[in-house]
Amino acid sequence: MKKISRETTLKEIFKTPVGHDILAKVLYSVGISSSLIEKTMFGNLKLGSLTKITLGKLNDSFIDELLTLLNSEKDVPTSGGEITRKWWKEAVIYQIYPRSFKDSDGDGIGDINGIIEKLDYLKDLGVDAIWCSPIYDSPNDDNGYDIRDYHKIMREFGSMEDFDRLLDEIHKRGMRLIMDLVFNHTSDEHEWFQDSVNNPNSEYRDYFIWRKGKGEGIPPNNWESIFSGSAWNYYPQRDEWALHLFSKKQMDLNWENLKVRNSLYDITNWWLEKGVDGFRLDVISFISKQDGLPDGHELIGTLMGFKGVEHYFYGPRLHEFLHEFRENSFGKYDAFTVGECQGTGIEMSRLMTEDVRGELDVVFSFDHIVNPGKTPYSDCSFDLRPMAKNLEEWQTQYGNHCWPTLFVENHDVPRMISKVDKTNRYKNEIAKLIATMLLTLKGTPFIYQGQEIGMTNCDFENVSELHDVQSLRFYKKLVKDSTKEDKAFRTVLNGTRDHARTPMQWDSSLNAGFTTGEPWIKVNPNYTSINAQLQETSKTSILNFYRELIKLRKSNPALIYGEFIRAHDSKNSFSYFRKLGDDTLFIEMNLTNRTVTRKSSTDKFKLLSSNYATTLKTKLRPYEANIYRCP
Ligand code: NOJ
Repeated sequence: MKKISRETTLKEIFKTPVGHDILAKVLYSVGISSSLIEKTMFGNLKLGSLTKITLGKLNDSFIDELLTLLNSEKDVPTSGGEITRKWWKEAVIYQIYPRSFKDSDGDGIGDINGIIEKLDYLKDLGVDAIWCSPIYDSPNDDNGYDIRDYHKIMREFGSMEDFDRLLDEIHKRGMRLIMDLVFNHTSDEHEWFQDSVNNPNSEYRDYFIWRKGKGEGIPPNNWESIFSGSAWNYYPQRDEWALHLFSKKQMDLNWENLKVRNSLYDITNWWLEKGVDGFRLDVISFISKQDGLPDGHELIGTLMGFKGVEHYFYGPRLHEFLHEFRENSFGKYDAFTVGECQGTGIEMSRLMTEDVRGELDVVFSFDHIVNPGKTPYSDCSFDLRPMAKNLEEWQTQYGNHCWPTLFVENHDVPRMISKVDKTNRYKNEIAKLIATMLLTLKGTPFIYQGQEIGMTNCDFENVSELHDVQSLRFYKKLVKDSTKEDKAFRTVLNGTRDHARTPMQWDSSLNAGFTTGEPWIKVNPNYTSINAQLQETSKTSILNFYRELIKLRKSNPALIYGEFIRAHDSKNSFSYFRKLGDDTLFIEMNLTNRTVTRKSSTDKFKLLSSNYATTLKTKLRPYEANIYRCP
């Protein structure tokens, strides 16, 4: 591939995988649409002119940094070919956050036996596979994403016997289990780390990322933790610093060390031998760090919220590590993998997931759930239109060798209904529109617990009600940087992960039927009107809407493997066909809270599903979403 320089045009750069994703991301973060590159003269501008175009927001040294990244990737994705059929392309996957799902023993914390109690509910919903957030032994600094022992179950969640029963009960019902593997880091209480700190002759000495400081009390570089503050802890025992991209207790593993990689593959194989069906790989795209760990660029740090990220979000050995990981573990078992990849866009994701390359099966990429120019903490209503545009790109450009994931919620992001409409006026319509989108687009849909009953954000009243380590550290940082406490709380409240972590609302009894004890986190007070039991019997409930659409998807292969064809260009609505052989379905959605005019008639189509009782001849009401069969 030709070397990219300041003289290369944006259009040419946009054609390369890394160029495409980085330019799209950079322009997105300053609120400019990347479609300008392809559609207008803007694309003929040279890379060097970015400083002018962005009125100096992007400076010269930023462009230097960009050039290093742009020239780092030599591979290009394949195109053409047929879609290979796989169980996970046809599956609907449900994410459980075990701490908040169902408590069976009254200690206020959800557990494995609680999950077993609810398996029939999930089967009934139409779920094919469950992704369970980590259940391994952990001191819970980050609710289980800080693992102390990968071979043990967290005491609050139960025992290994409980786990074996869970797996068995899932399989008995014809469902599958996807475990969460957190391999970018371990807990600082993991024996590898403890030995690495305290034992000069430890075989784990080089298992983590250790460096000398730049001077007394000065860390090795300026990288910042994604959870605020420096990304380094100092350990006097070694007179060295250890890297942690996340909390102070989540220590980054040194993937450069083959022994580390082999230990991780062994753990993976141990779970595969038990019979688990796949893995969600936590922040897997962060595992390879740039040689020499150079300082992070100030401006990129400001744009992204933390410094250093350009040196590891798509590191130099990422593809090599992923390929090796697959060869040595899940590939041998044909187990499914979904990688959590923050910051990578469509083209980089293609290079990680193309079936011909043997790395991951699918990835979670996140640009669609944050609006252009905004951050998760911005005080604004979420606009569904840019999201639809982003999803459309993945439908049309990802190619037949790759497969998208479809999701809008997980344990790290606030509830979508509340993001879109803070007044909750259209909460039913929005919940059903989201269901329509997730279950009619091409890709594997992931439903996060509670999404299927329309759970909303929680009105936490003050900071003492928050538990999430990221929110609490961010709050402290804001206050330290002289934001008034009340304002800091309100900012954190916009994006806190705790919104998604309030207990699952099962029924109208005390604590929403989640626990008979004291819940570990506040139960959303709206549980008496939003809960699974109430929705069970209501024909028009969100729960039953999900059930119907899952059935519809499963009985219409066109909704799974059919071609995606955009119906017409419209700013406010999203309309498309899914076509397989002679079977064609038409889907239309109004993405706004205003009534809009339908672009073309649906008179000849047969209505299969709607989030309104009836449809109108020429109009789509706020957030209306309909599915039809075409003759
Ligand atoms: C991503 C996980 O989804 C999140 O919950 C966690 O805090 C970080 N990775 C660190 O493991």
